[in-house]
Amino acid sequence: MPRRAVRVTFSLVLAVLTFAIFDFARQQPLSDDDPREESLLSQLTLDEKLDMLGGVDGFYTRGVSRLGIPSFKMADGPIGVRNYGPATTMAGGIALAATWDPALAEKVGATLGADARSKGVHFLLGPGVNIYRAPNNGRNFEYFGEDPWLASRIAVAYIKGVQSEHVAATIKHFLGNNSEFDRHNTDSGIGERALREIYLPVFESAVKEAHVGAVMDSYNLTNGAHMTQNGRLNIGVLTKEFGFDGVLMSDWSATYDGVAAANAGLDLEMPSARFMTHETLAVAVAHGEVSVATIDDKIRRLLRLAVRFRWLDGDHTVLSIPRYNLEGREVALQAAREGMVLLKNDREPTSEASTAQLRYVLPLDKSRINSIAVIGPDAYPAAPVGGGSARVEPFHAISFLEGIANYLGSQVRTYYNRGIPALADDFRAANFFTDSNGSHSGLAAEYFSTPDLQGQTSSTGIVLGQSTIQGGNLAPTQNWSSLRYSGYFMPKAAGEYDAIVQCPGEDCRFRLYINDKLALDAWDHALYSLNTAHLTINAIDISPQKIVLEHKRSRAGAAPPRVRIGIVEESTIVDPQAIALAKQANAAVVCVGFDPETEGEGSDRAFELPPGQEALIRAIAAVNHRTIVVITSGGAVDVRRWLDRVQGVIEAWYPGQEGGTALAEILFGTVNPSGRLPVTFERAPEDNPAHDNYYPQKGTNRIEYKEGVFTGYRGYQNAIAAPANSTRTFAKPLFPFGFGLSYSSFRYANLAVNSSEIARGGIRGKLWQISFDATNTGTRAGTDVSEIFITPTKSDGTIPLEQLKGFARTELKPGETRHVTISLGGWIPPESINARVFSTWDEQSHSWHSDPAAYEVLLCRDANTILLRAPAQSAAH
Ligand code: BGC
Repeated sequence: MPRRAVRVTFSLVLAVLTFAIFDFARQQPLSDDDPREESLLSQLTLDEKLDMLGGVDGFYTRGVSRLGIPSFKMADGPIGVRNYGPATTMAGGIALAATWDPALAEKVGATLGADARSKGVHFLLGPGVNIYRAPNNGRNFEYFGEDPWLASRIAVAYIKGVQSEHVAATIKHFLGNNSEFDRHNTDSGIGERALREIYLPVFESAVKEAHVGAVMDSYNLTNGAHMTQNGRLNIGVLTKEFGFDGVLMSDWSATYDGVAAANAGLDLEMPSARFMTHETLAVAVAHGEVSVATIDDKIRRLLRLAVRFRWLDGDHTVLSIPRYNLEGREVALQAAREGMVLLKNDREPTSEASTAQLRYVLPLDKSRINSIAVIGPDAYPAAPVGGGSARVEPFHAISFLEGIANYLGSQVRTYYNRGIPALADDFRAANFFTDSNGSHSGLAAEYFSTPDLQGQTSSTGIVLGQSTIQGGNLAPTQNWSSLRYSGYFMPKAAGEYDAIVQCPGEDCRFRLYINDKLALDAWDHALYSLNTAHLTINAIDISPQKIVLEHKRSRAGAAPPRVRIGIVEESTIVDPQAIALAKQANAAVVCVGFDPETEGEGSDRAFELPPGQEALIRAIAAVNHRTIVVITSGGAVDVRRWLDRVQGVIEAWYPGQEGGTALAEILFGTVNPSGRLPVTFERAPEDNPAHDNYYPQKGTNRIEYKEGVFTGYRGYQNAIAAPANSTRTFAKPLFPFGFGLSYSSFRYANLAVNSSEIARGGIRGKLWQISFDATNTGTRAGTDVSEIFITPTKSDGTIPLEQLKGFARTELKPGETRHVTISLGGWIPPESINARVFSTWDEQSHSWHSDPAAYEVLLCRDANTILLRAPAQSAAH
């Protein structure tokens, strides 16, 4: 067939409508209306309707008892039903994405939906789907990774599962909330094409394919407008273009202007009406600034959901669903098993190698092991989830230590040692004195009435209890705006030291001087919740080190920041007993990473592991040649200084309540690992395509998403192929997107691309199908994830060299071959993202342009490993 570019404009008219002409009031009902919603609407007074636009009691809508409209109940989301007592705690969102298993995501959703029904919850505040740009985002653990196709498959399945229980899923956070840094004020500058190709698709498919009940607007601004008053995106795109007919609610205290929000599509202000108040809107309606039709539309949306999910048909609480149930545990266990990613598995350094079969360190052989040392801060207690509103309290959580010990039973000794002190102990142990002679313990505190430490000192004092500084508790009753703590740290020996300042939450502002030099600067805003400055003390200058820590309230009335400081010496931080245990054990499992205190909502986190953990890994690896590192994190961490010293690495994410059991099964081979990275792991932070513009430009609140569509692996792939005169030097990722090892090996053959015209509901479309043979060439049963990317046949650098368009998990016995078929996008209504397999968004015409003949189809092991390729054009009729 001659090569002919088939350019199809799918949605020009719609796009022009939404990007050029904006109608900021949605006044028409969007779907066939149930008589009940119209009848209730007509009986409500304007006053009652205005009251319904704000939440109440933290997590409820306002009901109208006169008409039998109940108050609808909400709960976080997204990893379990967080509120109203303990609940099944699933693996975090990124772990779920790492399963590449939409069927499992649907089961997770259905389990959460059932748990919600057992608590009478109408709205589950999840899934969280903000695209991963860099490892720093404190909430990456909740989200589904860096790729819009993978994220949308997981999200659609999760939502369908939740909603199958008549609970409205609430997809969040719409839009551009890709970091936790200063989240109320940052303005995400995202180009139209990146919006369409990267950031919107997951929301679009949630609306079009899963008919999601609710959407939550984020805190930040996007392209100049706070999301709760961003009519262009809320109305122009979400409602009019995607056809969203559910409830658009604000994030908690993310509304900043009641009238603007009302006219920009916000239906519900949560947790209560602070801006979209009865009073404000009554005046606005009287002055014609907000129309009654606009108010009606908001109420109609809520009533429509209530009718659709049968919330008006009787008690929503289903007492016959046990809150603690074994089905839920089973699903949580499956998610933990499938989500863990084996990143490294070295060959055994054994002399048997020449004679015996080649062995890898993993899986460990239970019959050849007498003892194992489980070491590290994440070994016990369990860290099933990260911190913030996603932090579910499980009925029980199996830590890595317990999982391993339970698995091995009493025949094998499982030793445990934390290895390094808890952060709180670092803070307690720091040796601070108010004078350089070391005679008075503590730090001197001065309190100022102005935020810049210039005002009248309102009072002074000594902070006893040394380094645990609780601004709120220690400050005198007077109003203070800034504080200065000063004193001396007395090093006992020469060496490398870490000064740690912990200051979680969005109101944190501080700076640290060591010997009058600025060591940490978070005066405008803290980048991270945990901040570390390195300090070298030479033998000749073991002298008192002057410490000055200043901090301030972020704004008048804001809660005082909670700041803690400690200084630890790296060489003495590792507990010698942990080293001794590791030395005598047959294998060592070192569990490092973050936890809810160090990674979570409200702050970002550093790329580096928390203080002391690298030293711990190195110390254990030096004495045990079977050292396996298990990482708990929401994304990539810095492994440069220890990766080559250890024999195995498993990324466990936040694995949920059953994490310990799943880890043990993987370590000992009962489960063959099948998780694949849903994000790229970079070697160095500066390798990340978003690195230079992940935070706002200096002196502004604007975060320019300069990498455009080249986020994550799209950026790495293009950069690797970048011309020599490229202004940046790029490195290959350490572990590419889609990467994950198995205890089996797999072979692929006979890749074929087919397309056929299909029609459904009078709409014609094209179905693309990729087929191939997959064979398990190993000795164990295993599941492989086949990843289908497309690549342009000619590259001018404007189209990513790889884009994921399909994937499948295939379970294979040793030696078994299966013929696998993957539909790219499945069913294809032309206006849906599924029609866009071979498309790019054209910013000139504001529409999709499809050109299948310009692409090849790649069957890959991961974004860096192409196994087979075939032109798409042979199938482009
Ligand atoms: C979070 C939301 C959450 C809400 C209610 C906010 O701080 O950003 O994701 O649903 O709190 O807890």
